Amino acid sequence: MKDKVIALNRKFKQASAEEALLWFATNYSGRIAFSTSLGAEDQVITHMLAGIDASLKIFTLDTGRLFQETYDLLDITEKKYAIHIDIYFPAAKEVEAMVRSKGINLFYDSIENRQRCCHVRKIEPLKRALTGKEVWITGMRQEQSVTRAQSPLISWDPVHNIIKFNPLIHWTNEMVWQYIQTMKIPVNELHLKGFPSIGCLPCTRAIQPGEDLRSGRWWWELPEFKECGLHKTP
Ligand code: ADX
Ligand code: SF4
Repeated sequence: MKDKVIALNRKFKQASAEEALLWFATNYSGRIAFSTSLGAEDQVITHMLAGIDASLKIFTLDTGRLFQETYDLLDITEKKYAIHIDIYFPAAKEVEAMVRSKGINLFYDSIENRQRCCHVRKIEPLKRALTGKEVWITGMRQEQSVTRAQSPLISWDPVHNIIKFNPLIHWTNEMVWQYIQTMKIPVNELHLKGFPSIGCLPCTRAIQPGEDLRSGRWWWELPEFKECGLHKTP
């Protein structure tokens, strides 16, 4: 698999995101899935995929703690592109047991609690969403954080046993927004209110101009811990 990943990275070194997406959608038809958080990068990819293969599996992980604006955008996006976004929810029993023992806002109490909440509400549903798939498309970019600065275009994810494909990995924030404006892509209203990166409501806040793009996520933690576990590997 290592050789395959190296070859794929070489193959798409000079390719555009659309070219690479088209190749993967064609060659892994039915075996590929895109996870969207409805963030700006994800909206760019959804727009591209809608023009390539509207039946490609697109899914979101509804943690139960998302912003209303995110649900509104989900609805708008499905209608605009005539696509279906699969929604995965956490296992009710696990959420009930967790909040019974640790409290409804457990994530503020310790990193361990925060990671447990992310595990129950995101990681376990992600595993279900990726079952049977061979390629996982994400909207990650290197610029987003120190934890992603070395992430490649294509990698092998040994946690989920899947090829991970990040078509916008080398895009800058400016490129994302230029594309959104040119293509008139619908975006989360919160982006206009100081939220460049949007996750769950209790764990996301607006940032000040000049602050790091992901500094509003889990703002009480150090940058090197700021991964929910979805992206343990590049
Ligand atoms: S996170 O791990 O810190 O939450 P971030 O918000 O930067 O990730 O998003 C990076 C990529 O992870 C997104 O482009 C998307 O592919 C995936 N992702 C993050 N959150 C979700 C979600 N709730 N549902 C589906 N995919 C998600
Ligand atoms: Fe829980 Fe916060 Fe993680 Fe969402 S981001 S799953 S609320 S800890």
